[in-house]
Amino acid sequence: MTPTLKQVITADRISSISVSSTMKVMADADKLRREGVDVVDFSAGEPDFPTPDNIKQAAIRAIEGNFTKYTPAGGTAELKQAVIERHKIEFGTDYKASECIITVGGKHVLFNYTQALVNPGDEVIIPVPYWVTYKDIVNYAGGKCVFVETDEKEGFLLTAAMVERAITPRTRVIIINSPSNPSGAVLADAEFEKLYHIAAKLGIFLLTDECYSHFLYSGSPYSVASIPGSKSTVLVAGTVSKTYAMTGWRIGYGLAPEPIIGAINKLQSHSTSNPTSIAQKAAVEALRGPQDSVPQMLAEYRKRRDFVVPRLRQIPGVTCSMPAGAFYAYPNARAAFERCGMKTPLEFADRLLKEASVAVVPGEAFGTDDHVRISYATSMKELERGLDRIHKFVEKLG
Ligand SMILES: Cc1ncc(COP(=O)(O)O)c(C=O)c1O
Repeated sequence: MTPTLKQVITADRISSISVSSTMKVMADADKLRREGVDVVDFSAGEPDFPTPDNIKQAAIRAIEGNFTKYTPAGGTAELKQAVIERHKIEFGTDYKASECIITVGGKHVLFNYTQALVNPGDEVIIPVPYWVTYKDIVNYAGGKCVFVETDEKEGFLLTAAMVERAITPRTRVIIINSPSNPSGAVLADAEFEKLYHIAAKLGIFLLTDECYSHFLYSGSPYSVASIPGSKSTVLVAGTVSKTYAMTGWRIGYGLAPEPIIGAINKLQSHSTSNPTSIAQKAAVEALRGPQDSVPQMLAEYRKRRDFVVPRLRQIPGVTCSMPAGAFYAYPNARAAFERCGMKTPLEFADRLLKEASVAVVPGEAFGTDDHVRISYATSMKELERGLDRIHKFVEKLG
């Protein structure tokens, strides 16, 4: 029987979100590549390095040892302990197993936090530019995004005062991602601390996405959870994806008050069940094993950043602030695409892909109208090739 229109219309909450723009660009680039086009892909936010060998070996041992069954929905006790230990070593925190959950990647814990905490109409403060997923997961929970604009001239720096001005009686959560995807901006430790005190006084949750906390070009990694007594209002979202070049393994984690972890555990018990058992063993090795791959990758990202940003600034009409962390450049390309007769980053990114075979993510995905995001988590050779192509494309049309 042919389904009627009524049968195929999806639930309202699905219309409140769209497909992740970064995923879409990656899929478009992949399609072209499969058609034989030589695409330079700057869209993927993932390390080009292989997962370190000791981590791979741990997974192989897990398979051979038949560690291939269900685990508790919220992750193994062993991995929770490894997460807690590493966070303690790096930030001096002191979490209990009941305050920790293992999830299917960092995105999953962020999704689960918003599902567990945000009621319809609750406000969630999100600094701009933001990582694409925050807006959609808040919308999906029925919450209202309250955006806080940052100034590109100030390197997209956020201050506690900027966030404070956006707080209302309906504010439930503040999301901070430092270093930021896409801008690479880092919230100064002192501002983070100020923000924590403002939020804690009002009983607002401070959700800290620590995805890129190890990729910092000066100073040392910081966690707001290291503030004594902060455990009751700070929600840590972490992942092994970028730190250990493990994007495909899908292991993330949350550190948060017990009732929130309990709520997420309930949700996972009816949705994903446990993250993959084998990947959990690999993540234990990542967190407890040698850590030298992390500074090695960081040194490589620094070299690339120091090449990419000056190179972007040579392209007519492009300006770019220097990222302080993560592995993205977020150039302002408005003057460049306007001189080529284009009106939006979306149009620019689309034509770059079709006509110059370079994939970048348009700024609209991150809440700004002038930029594109370039991931430099790719080889120097690819960076040189791709940036040459963008330069020629702008020169040819401009
Ligand atoms: C800011 C930020 N948070 C979280 C994630 C989620 O990482 P994953 O789900 O791959 O662990 C990403 C991935 O790109 C990210 O950029």
